[in-house]
Amino acid sequence: MPKPFHLAWFLQGSSVQAWGEPWTGHIGTTWARPELFLDLARALERACFDYILLEDSSYVGESFNGSNEVYLKHGLSVPRQDPSVVAALMTQVTSRIGIVPTFGTFAYPPYLLARLVATLDQVSAGRIGWNAVTGSSDFAAMNFGLNGMPEHDLRYDMADEYLEVVKRLWSSWEPGAIVADRQGGVLVDHTKVHRVNHEGRFFKTRGPLNSGPAPQGQPVIAQAGGSPRGRRFAAAHADTIVVNAKGIEAMRAYRDDIRGMMAACGRNPDHCKVLFLVNPIVGETTEEAQARKAARQARAESTLVQRLAHFGKVTNIDFGRLDFDKPLPDDVTTNGHQQNLEQFRRLAAGRSIRETMADYNAAALSVELVGTCDAVAARMGEVIEEVGGDGYLFSMPNVNRRTLAEIEDGLVPTLQDRGLVRATYEHAQFRDNLLAF
Ligand SMILES: Cc1cc2nc3c(=O)[nH]c(=O)nc-3n(C[C@H](O)[C@H](O)[C@H](O)COP(=O)(O)O)c2cc1C
Repeated sequence: MPKPFHLAWFLQGSSVQAWGEPWTGHIGTTWARPELFLDLARALERACFDYILLEDSSYVGESFNGSNEVYLKHGLSVPRQDPSVVAALMTQVTSRIGIVPTFGTFAYPPYLLARLVATLDQVSAGRIGWNAVTGSSDFAAMNFGLNGMPEHDLRYDMADEYLEVVKRLWSSWEPGAIVADRQGGVLVDHTKVHRVNHEGRFFKTRGPLNSGPAPQGQPVIAQAGGSPRGRRFAAAHADTIVVNAKGIEAMRAYRDDIRGMMAACGRNPDHCKVLFLVNPIVGETTEEAQARKAARQARAESTLVQRLAHFGKVTNIDFGRLDFDKPLPDDVTTNGHQQNLEQFRRLAAGRSIRETMADYNAAALSVELVGTCDAVAARMGEVIEEVGGDGYLFSMPNVNRRTLAEIEDGLVPTLQDRGLVRATYEHAQFRDNLLAF
């Protein structure tokens, strides 16, 4: 039997899901109620996924023609709720799956973040992760009293210190500090609760954390650094990394790189699970799956403006001011997501913006997965074997209950029959399940 791999789900924020896609009902008016998110959490737990990652950004896009029009008209990451609320609600309808909200290090003082994540870990009985992002948009920075984002690599220097502080705050309660001795009348042993007295280059906090300890001790850290500096940050801190590396070679190279960096900083490389972005298209027959892929591609072409606006949001590039029928000018750079821009340039190879976008994220993310459940399951197994591990992050453009049924009742049972994914959770807490294989 091959070693099983891990599955996780990338939820595009606590937002309107898949606006304009079929099978989404009245999502434009029902989105703010959590039912779809709760159904998603229950379905993915029945399918034994490791976790759901709730993506986030905390601003309204304005990077297309210098206007927010395209973002608001098409529901591009707006409106969107605070991810901590939906994360908390998801924990209350599940008992095993990990829930991973995103919080930007620029947006929260470390004390507030450590307390929030510890609290979520408590109410979920040890199933919380934190997607630790530095943020990338000047518009977001301006919502928090900053004039703009610090320079790309400096953001990661700041985040390194931020992580150190947060981890120390989580450790400010020793195991066994809560004695809850009813006869003796002692709730907490004060000798086991410590200040952290951190005073560093960027942050200052006293501690201890007043929330009490997190059940996992240190909640799970997720990361998605793509640039060399981002990867170094991820290798130093992450328990799981989500990555969009295109093709088997790039996937293997990314994972090997991370594992090498982890070993170099004294970590066991098996203690971080690297998950690759995919959006499988399954059908009852190969022909049906191919037809759905063609429909998705046609849709992608008809939504070029939206896709460029989204790409521009994470790279801070205003594509509205560029000629789509020409290549992206060489002097366009980013202080945002460097990896995405690099991938775009590599894919473009001199082609126009329009032609490049036809391929960019159209149907395949890391690898193309199109076919019957059996064919897709087999391919997923082969790819992981070639890459070396560790699993997949599903990033579906068509989040709806039909898609969920296809995954839960179609693809996952086929993967389970092949022994490729778990059929039951091994443990009660998130990190233990993540490290179970
Ligand atoms: C699957 C995935 C999910 C991400 N989720 C978020 C997110 O929710 N919020 C955010 O600000 N950035 C998010 N990012 C961006 C990363 O944090 C990172 O900035 C990006 O991968 C570029 O890498 P770099 O920062 O090293 O240039 C995500 C990236 C990926 C690949």
